[in-house]
Amino acid sequence: MPVYCCPPNIESDEQIIDFEFPDPSEQLRIRKRAHMRDSDYIAKYASALSIMKSLPYDDPRSFARQADVHCIYCTGSYNKKHSNEFLNVHRSWFFFPWHRMYIYFHERILASLIDDDTFSLSFWNWDTPAGMVMPDMYFQEPFLDTERSDKHIHRPRVVNLDYNLVEINRTSEEQISHNLAVMYHQVVSGAKKMELFMGCIYKSGINGSCDGAGTVEQAPHDSLHGWVGKESNRYLEHMGVFYAAARDPIFFAHHANLDRIWNVWEELRNNEPEIVDPDWLDSYFFFHNEKSQLVRIKVRDVLNMTKLRYGYEKVDNLWLNARP
Ligand code: C2O
Repeated sequence: MPVYCCPPNIESDEQIIDFEFPDPSEQLRIRKRAHMRDSDYIAKYASALSIMKSLPYDDPRSFARQADVHCIYCTGSYNKKHSNEFLNVHRSWFFFPWHRMYIYFHERILASLIDDDTFSLSFWNWDTPAGMVMPDMYFQEPFLDTERSDKHIHRPRVVNLDYNLVEINRTSEEQISHNLAVMYHQVVSGAKKMELFMGCIYKSGINGSCDGAGTVEQAPHDSLHGWVGKESNRYLEHMGVFYAAARDPIFFAHHANLDRIWNVWEELRNNEPEIVDPDWLDSYFFFHNEKSQLVRIKVRDVLNMTKLRYGYEKVDNLWLNARP
């Protein structure tokens, strides 16, 4: 299906600036569990998101443009440098760093719209029993999205972390322990080597030979996209298809959790640098920042969350003990 998501002013001679780290004295934004957020926080996020949704499409900070950034990077709007292959930031070692960049800018835009530089995104903690349902806040405006599954998202339905479009009848308890085992496999036992977790090595010049998602990208990442998307839509829009996924605000909470889990995996490896290949470290992408400037940012810029002035609240990763 042809989709068009390029920015409206693509011909303009927009200046590109290189990424700079935020001031080290900036307070750390701590991303917390969506299902535990209080009403003050939800009100704040709601007002930021409402403003973002009200901005015109010409404004790169607008929600529709933000959503289309995801579309741009996965449906062939960019070519890879030095080749005519279409760029896709999924199914390779760019999956984690690219999405980190994306939600980093998104979070800072939201913060700037309400002039609150402590504002942080929340994560959908679907890997812990209390988080294994869609968090309540996503059932109210402006977090609501009509294009979601009718079957899955209502209580007491527990998420199926390795859902593959086939319904499996499990009791809630069975599903919870299944989910914990899935997590253990995807992050611990099945992801001991770099490429198993990060995805295949995607470089310019290696023609089309890399199309392999890492363990967590396949599930719970892909699987939950499909679980949330609306069955009656041809491509499971919104969440179930690349071009439309980020139109659902839950996208950002889903990816905040994935970003957190990347960090958990790194901690399991004692934070050894996962990849030292400059082809990965120096790969760069473009995003608009909160001042609507177009920024060139490299993978090496996003490997340390503290330097980006955000972090995650500490939670128990129960699945670490879910060894079969
Ligand atoms: Cu870029 Cu969850 O997909």
